[in-house]
Amino acid sequence: MSTTSMHPISTEEKAFWTDIRKQFYLHDHVTYLQGGSVGPSAKPAIEKTIELLRKLESDPLQMEESDVLGPLVEESREKLAAFVGTTADRIALVLNTTMGMNIPGQGLIWERGTEVLLSDQEYPAVRNLWEWVAERDGLTLNYISLPVPPDSPQDIVDAYAAGINEKTSILVFSHVYFTTGLVTPIKELTRLAHDHDCVAIIDGAHAVGMTPLNLSDVGCDFYTSSCHKWLLAPKGVGFLYMDAKYQNKVRPVIIGHNMHESESASRYDVNGTRDVTHHASLGTAIDFQSDIGWEEKIRPYCLGMAKYLKIQALERIRGSKLTIPMDIESSAFIVSFSIDGINLGKVCRYLWDDYKIEATANGANGMQFFRMSIHFYASYEDIDRFIKAVNEIIAKYDDVHIKEA
Ligand SMILES: Cc1ncc(COP(=O)(O)O)c(C=O)c1O
Repeated sequence: MSTTSMHPISTEEKAFWTDIRKQFYLHDHVTYLQGGSVGPSAKPAIEKTIELLRKLESDPLQMEESDVLGPLVEESREKLAAFVGTTADRIALVLNTTMGMNIPGQGLIWERGTEVLLSDQEYPAVRNLWEWVAERDGLTLNYISLPVPPDSPQDIVDAYAAGINEKTSILVFSHVYFTTGLVTPIKELTRLAHDHDCVAIIDGAHAVGMTPLNLSDVGCDFYTSSCHKWLLAPKGVGFLYMDAKYQNKVRPVIIGHNMHESESASRYDVNGTRDVTHHASLGTAIDFQSDIGWEEKIRPYCLGMAKYLKIQALERIRGSKLTIPMDIESSAFIVSFSIDGINLGKVCRYLWDDYKIEATANGANGMQFFRMSIHFYASYEDIDRFIKAVNEIIAKYDDVHIKEA
């Protein structure tokens, strides 16, 4: 095996991934390290969407009622269910995590005084939902503070355990924290919730396509995710998993057709007339990653690059500190790190303006850090480019240095 200069992959592997990158519409001059916010769909998924849209527009009424789109949507549901370790009847196809979280949040009936436990690092839209429901239904929200970085996954379980009291009935937690990219032990957190007779509701927006998931094994009550992040589906494709015991017990948030009781979670799909081509193309997006080999090829490649970025950041950027553990499984394809005395928001602006590198800076616990998303359309060279650019920006621009008051 011949290896490329500084990178721990062979020249053959590098050529393989370079070819794969060509299957995206990403500009060559853009370094895309921000797929955690929204991922680029590969050409086959987009071409499929366009092909279906053309068919749809050739005779909208016939196509709405034809057997072209409906079966493809069901095929997508089957493929998604297999990818996340459950059965198709447990999957509602929704637009995104925001919508998926609203279904149990607004649809379950809570007693006044019920307490909800969530962390200070839940996504703002998720916090808004629970704050709104709490005000409407007389619930109390309790927030726990998550350590940055935790010493071990058990720290997250311990933090939640310490926040539970006799009135706590709902635990809301993320599978992957949008702040730092920390991957949490969802099976243990679910067990903790169930040991205290609480409902376990999981925000998996960042997890599907970047960390293994087997929902049957996790045993949670609800799990929602956005397939347009790491699964690289067309935009506006998400899902909600619900345990069978909630079937027909959750009030639909939007009332329309298909409201009659049913055995399938599809009862909670987004409904009403709409463009279903994106949901119909989800199966193609999943095939794209499965055909490459998510477990055997994509995952090791991305974990390798994420590890490389952690090491490069620590070795080559003065004052850098990881805000996730060094252990590669704890952060999967996301790497987050701070730099002492540097305003990373401003650095991100220069990264884009001067280098066309997409990066983002987040904050938690009074710290600011980069949150870098490393998917298989990125390369080791992209990581080198990012590290070099950060050092050049720090050397060149005075306004990125935080001045002591
Ligand atoms: C952890 C988390 N939850 C929920 C969301 C909302 O996702 P969407 O905008 O796809 O609904 C995001 C989006 O970035 C997120 O990071």
